[in-house]
Amino acid sequence: MLLKIGWMAIFSAAVAAPGVGCHSAPSLTPRQAQGKHLYDMGCAHCHEENDLHFKKVPPNLHGLFKRNTLPDGAPATDAEVERVLVAGKGMMPSFAYQMTKQQMDALIAYLHSGLR
Ligand code: HEC
Repeated sequence: MLLKIGWMAIFSAAVAAPGVGCHSAPSLTPRQAQGKHLYDMGCAHCHEENDLHFKKVPPNLHGLFKRNTLPDGAPATDAEVERVLVAGKGMMPSFAYQMTKQQMDALIAYLHSGLR
């Protein structure tokens, strides 16, 4: 029941968002679309813009799961990426208190899309 309400909320948010359906990829699943939103809000400013000007530039996450290993050499698995999200890494903060497990799963589903 709760799940159903959450799903509907996500769906209506996606429908209400301006610009959805013009150049955003139509082939994202609703779960991936939620992940895209989380990525745009929580990850892109470092991983796309490096707006904090880290000397160690945050790695590009496009096609993350197309390679066998993560930038640090660990296996490119959902579990490993989730571990980075929960624990943080170097200059990257932990998201353990900012995201639910469900949100992390949606984000990882979006990372699997290759960031369309
Ligand atoms: C404050 C800036 C910042 C934010 C926000 C951020 N990251 Fe990072 N991220 C980094 C930096 C810097 C590294 C490199 C860490 C290192 O290797 O020391 C990194 C590394 C990573 C890695 C590679 C880890 C590895 O094992 O090689 C992944 C995957 C990743 N981030 C995913 C994400 C996701 C998904 C989000 C959004 C929830 C996110 N990051 C948000 C700065 C950030």
